[in-house]
Amino acid sequence: MLEIEDLSVRLAPGKAARPILDGVSLRVAQGETVGLVGESGSGKSVTCRAVLGLLPGGSAAGGSLRFDGDDVLSMPAARLREHRRRDVAMIFQDPLASINPMRRIGDHVTEGMRASGVPREEALARAEGLLESVGIRDPRAALRSYPHEFSGGMLQRVMIAGALAGEPRLLLADEPTTALDVTTQAEVISILTGLRTERSMAMLFVTHDLELAAAICDRVCVMYAGRIVEVQPAEALFARPRHPYTRGLLTATPRLDGGRPHGVPGRPVSLSDLVTGCAFAPRCPHASPVCEEQDPVIRTIDGAQVACLRAEELTDERA
Ligand SMILES: Nc1ncnc2c1ncn2[C@@H]1O[C@H](COP(=O)(O)OP(=O)(O)OP(=O)(O)O)[C@@H](O)[C@H]1O
Ligand SMILES: [Mg+2]
Repeated sequence: MLEIEDLSVRLAPGKAARPILDGVSLRVAQGETVGLVGESGSGKSVTCRAVLGLLPGGSAAGGSLRFDGDDVLSMPAARLREHRRRDVAMIFQDPLASINPMRRIGDHVTEGMRASGVPREEALARAEGLLESVGIRDPRAALRSYPHEFSGGMLQRVMIAGALAGEPRLLLADEPTTALDVTTQAEVISILTGLRTERSMAMLFVTHDLELAAAICDRVCVMYAGRIVEVQPAEALFARPRHPYTRGLLTATPRLDGGRPHGVPGRPVSLSDLVTGCAFAPRCPHASPVCEEQDPVIRTIDGAQVACLRAEELTDERA
């Protein structure tokens, strides 16, 4: 359904031709949940927004991004509006920041339906059903409320209801629970996974949390500095991470026993800092001189896709 091939995005000259995505390839099949995991600044949101046909202002893209075979990056404006209304929908990290505080919840949830020509009364009736399906207790009253009357978790449910209104086949969930407390996070995750099954909707699930991704996704893609460095089925990735960065992320996951998280030592780099070699080499416990000279190309090893020059040698030692 979604096929991203060798997508590169760079900020145009004037702004120092900074690459922000480099050779990103990613597929999402009908009904599949794919995780996109990586540290801050690795390019997860830029990738999601590209799926909506929204690239950073002044940037240039290379490669292709197809939805059902149609290249989103070259869609004319009218087709792109239809794509955003019907094929894909996105929910964001901070619901308060992405909703207009002056408009009622009902206006927000019905917006897309109204734009597609659904009459007001019918749109409101459908919105009521959608709010109910995301666990809002008095959906009729909610339609008349304003965003400030809701908690963060309730508002995220409203955002999900709004995203579902167009019956998208792919939901882009960009860190949808980061701004919520732990209990609410779990509720919102269970709503999302329930809806996905009910509607056989595909999902691109963005998170910092590799453990969460492994728990709810079919497949997980790990990003580092604008590139995808590892792709594996969720269980395999968790049981047998191949890339040293993925291993670092797994050690960085806060432990339930309250032990201190280790973190991946060193600071994230941006793609523009790098001339040649592996972007992770400066932080990698296994880096050898070749890693600083040669670009690691993503390749398949025993069903795992991994962009590490030393992946074979490292396979049997755990970091
Ligand atoms: N509109 C923009 N203009 C210029 N640079 C941008 C723009 N949007 C993103 N970037 C740059 O692209 C890189 C990737 O950003 P992105 O927002 O995709 O990261 P992310 O993985 O989503 O991080 P986070 O986990 O913090 O949300 C960053 O270096 C960021 O500064
Ligand atoms: Mg982001």
